[in-house]
Amino acid sequence: MENTFLITGGTGYLGNTLIRHARARGLPIAATFHHQTPPAATDITWYPLDLRDPTAVRRVITEVQPAVIIHTAFRQYDPDLMAITGEGAGYVAATAAEIGSRLVHMSSDVIFDGEKAGAYTEADPPNPITDYGRAKARAEELVQHHHPHAAIVRTSLIYGFDPLDRHSAFALAVARGERTEKLFYDELRCPVFVDDLAAALIDLAQSDYRGVINLAGAETISRYEWGRLLAQAYGLDPNRIVGTLSAESPTPRPRNCALDISRALALGYRLRGVREVLQASGKLKPSRES
Ligand SMILES: NC(=O)c1ccc[n+]([C@@H]2O[C@H](COP(=O)([O-])OP(=O)(O)OC[C@H]3O[C@@H](n4cnc5c(N)ncnc54)[C@H](OP(=O)(O)O)[C@@H]3O)[C@@H](O)[C@H]2O)c1
Repeated sequence: MENTFLITGGTGYLGNTLIRHARARGLPIAATFHHQTPPAATDITWYPLDLRDPTAVRRVITEVQPAVIIHTAFRQYDPDLMAITGEGAGYVAATAAEIGSRLVHMSSDVIFDGEKAGAYTEADPPNPITDYGRAKARAEELVQHHHPHAAIVRTSLIYGFDPLDRHSAFALAVARGERTEKLFYDELRCPVFVDDLAAALIDLAQSDYRGVINLAGAETISRYEWGRLLAQAYGLDPNRIVGTLSAESPTPRPRNCALDISRALALGYRLRGVREVLQASGKLKPSRES
């Protein structure tokens, strides 16, 4: 299957959008799923996969012989979090290196402790403070070890409108009064529009970039401020969004996860900030900006 793009986690939020973009570019696609039944499609070969099983990972990748693997599959909340998200990425990387597949591995801004004054660059070493962060940091370590030519993409909160992502759905549920949680004033992120990210990932996969790269939205914004913007964009009252400090969280959370995107910009990858995306989609009028 020469030129095939193998997308792990094809049933996931990002995976699904990657499939749409890869299809639009006429790329041959294979994809994996775990619990969800994948949609019927004649132009995609679907493979069941459990990342906890190294033999299965090896079997699927060896059978597909992909030119490129974009590894999105993971779990954030699972008793087997480390096995799936950390060690599983290592199995993918080892087989990809063995058969000569290009690998783009999805990482996250939560590999940091969030205490830096300023945005994190690609040179900043991981220092996770959550179980999820530790699993993603372990994944990076394994990918670097097994597949030194891989691109490791650190990104931020992924959102989109159709379907709505879980972060936006949460904020909108708060704005509708269906949930009572407060949103953090001091948790800074660079939310990234899923279509911008998918397009950049396919371009990156077709390049020879190796090592870590930050691919995140161009605007750094707090969870609170983002929630207010979303409420406004969906015709809800932004004042229903109540803020608090992350110190109030019962579990530790990295506060400043801002990612420095200078390297991405220099390479021609510009992923829009949230205000820009909301305005371009017609959901937010420039005059109504706060
Ligand atoms: N979403 C964000 O805001 C965000 C932020 C930063 C980084 N990221 C990174 O971006 C990537 C994609 O995130 P996402 O939100 O699109 O993910 P998602 O929607 O939660 O999808 C996760 C995918 O992983 C698959 N999966 C789960 N457990 C598996 C297992 N044991 N073996 C094999 N596959 C398994 C799921 O399959 P089934 O659904 O079929 O069970 C699904 O296709 C992840 O690597 C994540 O760390 C995401």
